[in-house]
Amino acid sequence: MPAITASAPGKAILFGEHAVVYHRPAIAVPVTQVKARASVFAQIQAPAGQVWLDAPDIHLSAVLDEVDPAQPLAILVREVQRELALERFPALKITIRSDIPLAAGLGSGAAVSVAAIRALSAFVGHPLPDETVSRIAYRVEQVHHGTPSGIDNTVITYAQPIWFLRGAPFELLKVAQPFTLVIADSGITSPTVAAVQDVRRHHELDPLKYDAIFDAIASVVNRARTCIEQGQIHDLGPLMDENHCLLKRLDVSCGALDHLVDTAHSAGALGAKLIGGGRGGNMIALVHAVDARLVAEALLRAGAVRTLITEVTPHQTQGGAC
Ligand code: PMV
Repeated sequence: MPAITASAPGKAILFGEHAVVYHRPAIAVPVTQVKARASVFAQIQAPAGQVWLDAPDIHLSAVLDEVDPAQPLAILVREVQRELALERFPALKITIRSDIPLAAGLGSGAAVSVAAIRALSAFVGHPLPDETVSRIAYRVEQVHHGTPSGIDNTVITYAQPIWFLRGAPFELLKVAQPFTLVIADSGITSPTVAAVQDVRRHHELDPLKYDAIFDAIASVVNRARTCIEQGQIHDLGPLMDENHCLLKRLDVSCGALDHLVDTAHSAGALGAKLIGGGRGGNMIALVHAVDARLVAEALLRAGAVRTLITEVTPHQTQGGAC
């Protein structure tokens, strides 16, 4: 069998992270400038059923049976096998490569899962439909994340701007006017699971206070949806600022992210906020397209380790690395 390759983009949560775990709505877009790729190769010499996992970025190179069964790739291979009711895979090697920064709010884990599920299922001649790909990617996230909202696997599988409410069917978002985002990486890795657990602990201790913050975030998300669907892009900036302030009240920002948000404003951004789990990772700034490079350069000078410029359009995002 020939090699099969599949890829999946990164993602950014424009509005509503954390509150989305508590059944408030959120808006996410794909970020196609970064990608995870999975390639599956037949291993003609190897015994039938032998699956070799190869993920150089995380220094993994081993036969499936020798890998910790809780390793996300190992879970994923077994989930695909179960879904396809395969007694065993033909002998194969799956190689994962990704330029999506790890633990940085850009959905690296879900993107690896989506690419690997697609490559594995296509390799055995049964490419899985998007709905199943997203469901399996969600199960993999659950093992490590506990209570993922499901927004990452959904936006990455469908690779389009989405409106997401946990437990309800997601909606593709109508983007009336393209808009430009600068994404900047603080260089601080911060596992989402820790931030999500802290928010849960705070919520348990003071549900009234935290539910009020989640409701305020939901109100921002609802207003942002109207702006995006009606092309009122200028009004999105202040909504990002409002969302960032609310995320600070959840205690998921940090000095480096706040500094990048302030820098984006000084450089002419219309609004800015952290994205994803927070405490590090990336932030986004909404900019006039002509200002994107200037804002990106200011963010690099302020300590960002990398920036991306992306355009959110009705059907996909486009752009280039800076
Ligand atoms: O940090 P990321 O890219 O995994 O995004 C997490 C988003 C949260 O809302 C904090 C958690 C979730 O499951 O939605």
